[in-house]
Amino acid sequence: MKRNNRRPPAGEHRIHIDRLGHDGRGIGAIDGKTVFVEGALPGEDVSFRYVFSRKTFDEGVASQVHTASPARVEPACPHADICGGCSMQHLSGDEQLAMKQRVLFEQLAHFGNVQPREVLPPLVGERYGYRRKARLAVKFVPAKGGVLVGFREKRTPYIAAIDSCAVLLPEVGRQITALREVLTPLTARDRIPQVEVAAGDDGIALVIRHLDPLSEADQSAIVGFCQARGFHLYLQPGNESTIHRVWPAPGESDPRLTYRLDDFGVELRFHPNDFTQVNSSINRQMVKLAVDLLDPQPGDRVLDLFCGLGNFTLPLATRAAHVTGVEGSQAMVERGTENVAHNRARGVALGETRFFAANLDGDFANTPWARERYDRLLIDPPRSGAEAVCRQASRFGAGRIVYVSCNPATLARDAGLLVAEGYVLEKAGVMDMFPHTTHVESIAVFSRSGGKAR
Ligand SMILES: C[S@@+](CC[C@H](N)C(=O)[O-])C[C@H]1O[C@@H](n2cnc3c(N)ncnc32)[C@H](O)[C@@H]1O
Repeated sequence: MKRNNRRPPAGEHRIHIDRLGHDGRGIGAIDGKTVFVEGALPGEDVSFRYVFSRKTFDEGVASQVHTASPARVEPACPHADICGGCSMQHLSGDEQLAMKQRVLFEQLAHFGNVQPREVLPPLVGERYGYRRKARLAVKFVPAKGGVLVGFREKRTPYIAAIDSCAVLLPEVGRQITALREVLTPLTARDRIPQVEVAAGDDGIALVIRHLDPLSEADQSAIVGFCQARGFHLYLQPGNESTIHRVWPAPGESDPRLTYRLDDFGVELRFHPNDFTQVNSSINRQMVKLAVDLLDPQPGDRVLDLFCGLGNFTLPLATRAAHVTGVEGSQAMVERGTENVAHNRARGVALGETRFFAANLDGDFANTPWARERYDRLLIDPPRSGAEAVCRQASRFGAGRIVYVSCNPATLARDAGLLVAEGYVLEKAGVMDMFPHTTHVESIAVFSRSGGKAR
């Protein structure tokens, strides 16, 4: 990819930063040309070095801050300048949220031509040690003293040499050095490209991808590392279907990962490579907020689209007579069904609950569940959004829709489609699901007169 189409000016330069970009970089101008400066905040005067020069804008990295913004804070992580895992640790948490709110409302106006009647207060949780799911890259780099484990660097494809991670759950974030030390002497050290982390409320699993079969000595070193820390160990010799547990040994016990949603008395079981929300404190608040905003009544029929393992489906089923969950992955449909059985066995009273596998980007109009009517609709799509669903949302007859989004641009597009279907955007707000990154998680509520929304 040819990125630097001009030779950037050499040396240090000085700039005043006017505003913050959607990607967390400060934006200023030199001789009328826009410059995006990493590590700089609005109101600051900084020295910077150019890294790329393009026809209409330039890019640089701050080297010295002369007048600091009151919103500037000291990053908690010593690797914040290099590691690409986070881009906004130098900005206070409240300002990060204000920026995310701005992004949400700008995108709603720009792509959807809509504004909410009411702004929901942001959902806030722990800003460090929150991340329960991560894919850590692994690379053997002799020049750096062995195996590196972590995220890519900010401006290069190389893995940042980190010894800890402040946003990962501390039980894992503090084990980066130990993980590097156990992987470095292995025969297969250059055949292990990634380690995935998945944590539940009572357990942590590592899934180690390896490109060649592991020797007994290598495997027992990794098992020993996990045993000493109480981590479950899964190995992945091929594609996702090859993931298998090696410790605790299969059959010995059933150490399934679980998380609880105490507001609903529900416990969800999951496999380490299932989709789960990365931030458990925000997830608990988000599920409670979504259910409260959707406000299903005891006799209601609710449709939960992109339902995954039932994160919203089961809580909704504690309130409504009927919930249908629809999801693209058959494995997740099975997990949802298991979770219903698991919670009924625990004595949780759930309304009628059923799951279907369907491609919600495709033509689902003639599937049995899509021909039925529902009182409430919950939509929680991937980043690409729910265009096909929103284009025909009125077919379901729901008086109220709650839309949970991890991409404000597709939410905005879909909000415009819902408005065209006769819905009104009542409320919207951001949720601090991914502190220190520029990911914007949001929630929006739509209603339609003529539908059933009391
Ligand atoms: C953001 S996740 C939400 C999952 C669940 N609601 C939760 O809170 O855990 C999006 C879900 O959509 C599913 N998905 C992605 N593309 C899909 C498609 N085209 N049709 C149906 N489901 C899809 C994914 O498998 C994933 O479970």
